[in-house]
Amino acid sequence: MVDVQAGARAPRVAVVPGDGIGQEVIAEGVRLIQALAPDVELEWFDLGAERYLRDKVTLPDDVFARWRDEFDAVFLGALGDPRVPSNVHAKDILLGSRFRLDLFINQRPIQLLDPRRCPLKGKGPDDVNMMVFRENTEDLYTGVGGTFKEGTADEVAQELCIATRKGVERIVRAAFAWARAHGKTRVCMSDKSNAMRFTGGLWQRVFKAVAAEYPEIQASHLYVDVLAMEMVRAPERFEVIVTSNLFGDIITDLGAILQGGIGLACSGNIHPGRVSLFEPVHGSAPDIAGKGIANPMATFLTAGQLLSHLGRPALEAQIQAAVRGALLADEVTPELGGTLSTRAVADAVLGRL
Ligand SMILES: NC(=O)c1ccc[n+]([C@@H]2O[C@H](COP(=O)([O-])OP(=O)(O)OC[C@H]3O[C@@H](n4cnc5c(N)ncnc54)[C@H](O)[C@@H]3O)[C@@H](O)[C@H]2O)c1
Repeated sequence: MVDVQAGARAPRVAVVPGDGIGQEVIAEGVRLIQALAPDVELEWFDLGAERYLRDKVTLPDDVFARWRDEFDAVFLGALGDPRVPSNVHAKDILLGSRFRLDLFINQRPIQLLDPRRCPLKGKGPDDVNMMVFRENTEDLYTGVGGTFKEGTADEVAQELCIATRKGVERIVRAAFAWARAHGKTRVCMSDKSNAMRFTGGLWQRVFKAVAAEYPEIQASHLYVDVLAMEMVRAPERFEVIVTSNLFGDIITDLGAILQGGIGLACSGNIHPGRVSLFEPVHGSAPDIAGKGIANPMATFLTAGQLLSHLGRPALEAQIQAAVRGALLADEVTPELGGTLSTRAVADAVLGRL
């Protein structure tokens, strides 16, 4: 990948609408990118359930190689279709990209934009404003494990939790570096080291060592069960959270609800300086697909993260402000109590930019 930030060439983004509402929200996200950053070159990739059902293709090697070598970002809608019960295409494309592109940071902002959307009594946008750094390539997601005597009364199943010094150190470092760069003063690491002694012990040692390099930042630790409680009781305690793959998966869904719902949650799968993948947190929502009522706001906020990755953080701030404006004006889709369509909400946000 050429260094776009050095201005060597126009940034290139691979667009994968995917399945269900992914197609509907990505269409609006593309309109947004084209409006705010017309120089960004977009190329569509026909990948997803439809393609898989047609010719059994998930993520072809030549497409993967092109993303890795020629693109700066991938903009993905969602993957998942009831006609593919094995979900093999989603696993290959999403987990395949995360592992093969070594996208070790799953960065998920938990930011309440409209105080009325928070389910917590008396908490506002100043209280719910944290960034989660979820490790994205290790832990229980590597597929290391197996079964023995499967299907018998003596069946044994095992899943290995993998933590490496390199893997833990780079995500912890990313969290502290982001905190410093954004003027944050608190980083909380969360694990379950009271029960998981070996991987937890590694997280503890690495966190302590990296924290020592950031004396201006207050480093704290919570067991993940306590973190879940505290995110609900006192979310204002948290500015930056760093945790492992599985715990990050769970606590960011909790975070999505604190910020107003799954239709508002965005995420980046990032390897700094390399092609990275950006996607709304929600899935393909087969229950509302094709009805034109999916909330495009998560995709807009995701586009903001993507543009920030391309070196344009000011555009991300503008997008957040426009989404906040539409939320406060109740220009929202049905799942947030509104009556507007995907297109009308998109128009409401775009009109503010
Ligand atoms: N990253 C991904 O691609 C991803 C993530 C989660 C689920 N999935 C897949 O999506 C499919 C459906 O999964 P699910 O139902 O568990 O999760 P989902 O996120 O698709 O839907 C959960 C609920 O939230 C609603 N919802 C989600 N996004 C919305 C939006 N933008 N606007 C309005 N309402 C929205 C849906 O209507 C549904 O009621 C499955 O195949 C699953 O594997 C994919």
